[in-house]
Amino acid sequence: MMDQTPLLRIKGLTLHFDEGRTKALNGVDLEVRAGEFVAIVGPSGSGKSSLLNVIGTLDQPSSGEISFRAQSYAELKDSSLFRRAHIGFVFQSFHLIPTLSALDNVIVATIGCDGATGEHRARATELLTQLGLRDRLGHFPGKLSGGERQRVAIARALINRPEMVLADEPTGSLDSANAAQVLDMLTGIVKQQGLTLIMVTHDASVSARADRIIHMRDGRIEHEVTA
Ligand SMILES: Nc1ncnc2c1ncn2[C@@H]1O[C@H](COP(=O)(O)OP(=O)(O)OP(=O)(O)O)[C@@H](O)[C@H]1O
Ligand SMILES: [Mg+2]
Repeated sequence: MMDQTPLLRIKGLTLHFDEGRTKALNGVDLEVRAGEFVAIVGPSGSGKSSLLNVIGTLDQPSSGEISFRAQSYAELKDSSLFRRAHIGFVFQSFHLIPTLSALDNVIVATIGCDGATGEHRARATELLTQLGLRDRLGHFPGKLSGGERQRVAIARALINRPEMVLADEPTGSLDSANAAQVLDMLTGIVKQQGLTLIMVTHDASVSARADRIIHMRDGRIEHEVTA
């Protein structure tokens, strides 16, 4: 029988700052199926990054429930371990380590994970090659273009075989040609591997490719559109 349980289940989620004066999330209900590509759009300050950060266990909600498969976030013993095992992150500003090569920026994400160093190196090389960076493995981030840096960040997000990729305006720092290429590669790999993708974007050409578009306003889901 097919598993109908959503991959991600969110109920009544709130995230408050400044002793409740700022309600970054103000009652979000959302279910995401495995393999779905969900785009999150909405005005600045509407809570898009906050939602992604809570889904990614980078922020702890003030109230509400969130679970990944049968795992309730409230019962996580080690959220960083959970995050490394199940979730890949891609940020607008790449967040690469400037003193490490492209290859090492990818391998560094495997620290503390199972598997031999040689396997991690081989997989990092394979991913970077798939992302068109075969001849950039030894380059430092400062010697890479924005599009190349983001492709390194995508390889880093994928190295631990996450089921879910969270991307916060991944093309926001790129010119349109690089943005299109990065997006093609990210969505291509995600689809090929059957991964779930949740992407915050201001770019209508990006959200147009999603299975579902979530519109946020004032910390809530205002409405959603299914493709
Ligand atoms: N660490 C924090 N401390 C206090 N307030 C915060 C914090 N993080 C976010 N906020 C506030 O929460 C609200 C939602 O912020 P969030 O970053 O989620 O918006 P966003 O939709 O991602 O906006 P943008 O499109 O500009 O990235 C904003 O009012 C923001 O100022
Ligand atoms: Mg944001």
